[in-house]
Amino acid sequence: MAQEENKNQHTPHKKLKLGVFGFGCVGQGLYHVLNETHGIKAEIKKICVKNRDKKRILDSAIFTYDKNDILTDNEINVIVELIDDANAAFEIVKTALQNGKHVVTANKRMIAEHLPEIYALQQKHNRSVLYEGSVCGSIPILRNLEEYYDNDLITSIEGIFNGSTNYILTKIFEERKSYTEALKGAQDLGFAESDPSLDVKGFDPKFKLTIAIAHTFGVFLKPEQVINIGIQKIAATDLKYARENNYAIKLVARAYKKNGKVFALVAPQFIPTDHMLASVRNEYNAVLVEGAFAEKQVFIGKGAGSYPTGSAVLSDISALTYDYRYEYKKYAQGEGLPFSNEATVDVVVSFPKGSLLSPKDFETFKGGYQGNDYQFMTGTVKLEKLKIWNEWDDVSIILAPELNLNPVEETKKELLFA
Ligand SMILES: NC(=O)c1ccc[n+]([C@@H]2O[C@H](COP(=O)([O-])OP(=O)(O)OC[C@H]3O[C@@H](n4cnc5c(N)ncnc54)[C@H](OP(=O)(O)O)[C@@H]3O)[C@@H](O)[C@H]2O)c1
Repeated sequence: MAQEENKNQHTPHKKLKLGVFGFGCVGQGLYHVLNETHGIKAEIKKICVKNRDKKRILDSAIFTYDKNDILTDNEINVIVELIDDANAAFEIVKTALQNGKHVVTANKRMIAEHLPEIYALQQKHNRSVLYEGSVCGSIPILRNLEEYYDNDLITSIEGIFNGSTNYILTKIFEERKSYTEALKGAQDLGFAESDPSLDVKGFDPKFKLTIAIAHTFGVFLKPEQVINIGIQKIAATDLKYARENNYAIKLVARAYKKNGKVFALVAPQFIPTDHMLASVRNEYNAVLVEGAFAEKQVFIGKGAGSYPTGSAVLSDISALTYDYRYEYKKYAQGEGLPFSNEATVDVVVSFPKGSLLSPKDFETFKGGYQGNDYQFMTGTVKLEKLKIWNEWDDVSIILAPELNLNPVEETKKELLFA
């Protein structure tokens, strides 16, 4: 009897009719994951794709090439946006919300570039946009930041936020594959973005970091505010240096709250092989959250691929059956922290002999080494200086293993008392 009463108190889960945009790697992953998952009250009514000549694994009747077939269909109450074009995706999401539909998307670039507008549109139209699949694939980080960590004072979030580059670096280190071979492998397995320079130049992890910062610190940034250094300039001499010193190289995205400001950076880093990030291999991602009271916690899972990303998208669809919405709690708490690039970090730079770098470029120069053709320099550098070096084709920048990101005022104070 008591059980019966309890049962009646549950809100019945809604039945969802889905209109899907995109049937590529993630779209097909979602299709399979949804088919294999029993008990979820959601059904795909139509799928909008672009190319009329492509062979499809489903009957042609489910496909359309006209977005309005989905966006104006009153029976469809959820739009699942899984296309690889951020501008077209934003138009789809905007119209969907205006037409009273909820949205699930995995499009990190679109979310990162338009988050303040998407936040406002959700409030205005009283509809939800969920995007767990956009940050670190299958790792449930956004809902944890929203729900579990809603009262904790998080001081940092960092980790491996890009599956393709982690796959490439793993293959280069463990199987001594060339960069081109390893990239081809990532593309064949569906981890790489349609434009792989977004991965290897560090833009993709920056988009994810921008989104994570909104849910961690309540700060809406433009992605271009964050400096991103990729892996495309890592030289054979860097790999040799890493092997000789027992380091892995990982592309690390990080954001810290220090001195009442938020700092962020995406850059490759030498990682000692006993560090927990060193064991995160292939397309796996890791997110390390540090809170004032909970201290360090780590999430590891597949950061890319058809089924892992499809499963994160499915989890968002499932959350909509019980009317879940992000509350943007940290933003609502209104701390309004400023963002700053006024900080220094410890780096190792390598470059062909005769390049323009000099020890004077460093705040603190720690040492250098000259080989036959190459030179290394290590020391503490301002982030703004790294941004300039990043534009130079032959300068490879890798953060030192013991990374110290210090706000500039703090560095000066330390020097005064040194
Ligand atoms: N791949 C991953 O591991 C992964 C992980 C996390 C997030 N994501 C994100 O998920 C999204 C999809 O990635 P994906 O790897 O699945 O891409 P994909 O394999 O290249 O597939 C893209 C799909 O979008 C369709 N499309 C492109 N422009 C369209 C438009 N204007 N209208 C309708 N359909 C359009 C394409 O149609 P056609 O089939 O006709 O070409 C294709 O079906 C991207 O935002 C990506 O950043 C991907």
